[in-house]
Amino acid sequence: IVGICNTWSELTHCNSHLRELADAVKRGVWQAGGFPLEFPVMSLGEFNMRPTTMLYRNLMSMDVEESINANPLDGVVLMGGCDKTTPALLMGAASADLPSILVTGGPQLKANWRGGELGSCTDCRRYHAELRAGRITEDDWQDLQGSIIRSPGHCGVMGTASTMASLGEALGIALPGNGTIPAVDSRRYQLAEESGRRIVNLIKEDITPSKILNTEAFHNAIHTLHAIGGSANAVIHLIAIAGRLGIELPLRLFDEFSKTTPLILDLKPSGRFLMEDFFYAGGVSALLREISSFLHLKSPTVTGKTLGENVDSAQNYNRSLIKGVQDPINAQGGL
Ligand code: FES
Repeated sequence: IVGICNTWSELTHCNSHLRELADAVKRGVWQAGGFPLEFPVMSLGEFNMRPTTMLYRNLMSMDVEESINANPLDGVVLMGGCDKTTPALLMGAASADLPSILVTGGPQLKANWRGGELGSCTDCRRYHAELRAGRITEDDWQDLQGSIIRSPGHCGVMGTASTMASLGEALGIALPGNGTIPAVDSRRYQLAEESGRRIVNLIKEDITPSKILNTEAFHNAIHTLHAIGGSANAVIHLIAIAGRLGIELPLRLFDEFSKTTPLILDLKPSGRFLMEDFFYAGGVSALLREISSFLHLKSPTVTGKTLGENVDSAQNYNRSLIKGVQDPINAQGGL
């Protein structure tokens, strides 16, 4: 019996397509001989919740943990997207420690506005400042708001949602491709279906989060965080997820790794490109291959292969977006 733990909500725009995506997961579960049952948990949407979703992350993680523990489930597919939903799912699943796999909703499509490409929320904040400064009009602002979010999915910059979805791959708890395939791309649905098949195998093999999310996996995630110029919130979330498994991640470790791990990804908010471009460039697998000298490549993952095997054949198709460690954007981490 596979629980599909879903953070779909009409109040969380970023996760508004997760019911359709859950249908793809269910198809995969059926194909592999499992019995899928979808259930809701609390959803945290950055747009609407006040004063801040961060105040609710731990509450949501308890909802996830208790919903998994209280029901007769053999394994769980975790469906998140917007910033705090992914870490809360991983925290709850880590505590429950039933076989689990992460499927996030994917980034929004890039926005095109008056000849330029925009990504929320880097550019909405930038243009809101322009509005307050009187350099664009209220009509311009309304037009921009109508253009900047073209599809379901989470923010298309390397904010917290993209960071946690990408780190899911580095941690080994999500399939390759999870971090970057756009929300409305058919390959996102293929990945969801494959995740449904994989969870049945993880149950058969009794591969629980505590067997995947070990100290080396978290070290891989911290190196990746620095290489992608990820969200500072990931520090808080990684410490919390690791804490559920009794693993300590002191702040000095993040500092230490940042001195040696180069920033190699040119994405907004620190750089130029968007998550959709990152996918076309080869995605997280291509980046992990570039920084493989920093990683524990023998770490187990939900694919049934090691992290090294997962990324072994990955190709970097755009070297001005994903740089090499010999030719980084910055020699130190981009946090
Ligand atoms: Fe959901 Fe930005 S508002 S990821």
